[in-house]
Amino acid sequence: MHPDCERILIPEVEIRAKVVELGRRISKDYAGKELLMIGILKGAMIFLADLVREISVPTRYDFMAVSSYGASSKSSGKVRILKDLACGVEGRHIIIVEDIVDTGLTLNYLAENLNSRDPASVKICTLLDKPSRRIKPVEICYKGFVIPDEFVVGYGLDYSERYRNLPCIMVLNPKVYMNKGE
Ligand code: PRP
Repeated sequence: MHPDCERILIPEVEIRAKVVELGRRISKDYAGKELLMIGILKGAMIFLADLVREISVPTRYDFMAVSSYGASSKSSGKVRILKDLACGVEGRHIIIVEDIVDTGLTLNYLAENLNSRDPASVKICTLLDKPSRRIKPVEICYKGFVIPDEFVVGYGLDYSERYRNLPCIMVLNPKVYMNKGE
């Protein structure tokens, strides 16, 4: 285990099994259709990379980046697109892929934004869901794990850009972020 982490919340083997399960479900639900998976940078990159390899229907993927806001400005609810899609979405079946839904501000905004571009459908897939922090409603169709309100890192999730490459989801030791002014 990484020395900055308090404990392992979700081991690698459980993530792996969940990704396979979600991939199977998605493949079944979209049988006979073509999919466009949209990963939200940067956190969702690792989940998306693993998930698309478990999907058996024709699938393309693209990325969006949105402004990330510190905890203090979250309540403003402002989300800004920093990088938009390279492809059009009109008539396409979209799944937005996230590593975590926390306040819901990001996904609530993105779902509305993408829906306004005339896709055939828009669904949300997230590896982690932290419902206790929700401010805006988000309809999650494909969900990996519901987690408690703890600071988690790994498998794409960061603290100050670190720990994204850890293979499992870990609870960060509060000593790491205390007195850092975030
Ligand atoms: C995280 C996560 C979601 C968003 C969820 O991204 O990947 O995009 O926060 O939070 P919300 O439900 O409160 O809106 P972050 O801004 O940390 O950027 P990152 O993916 O680059 O780490």
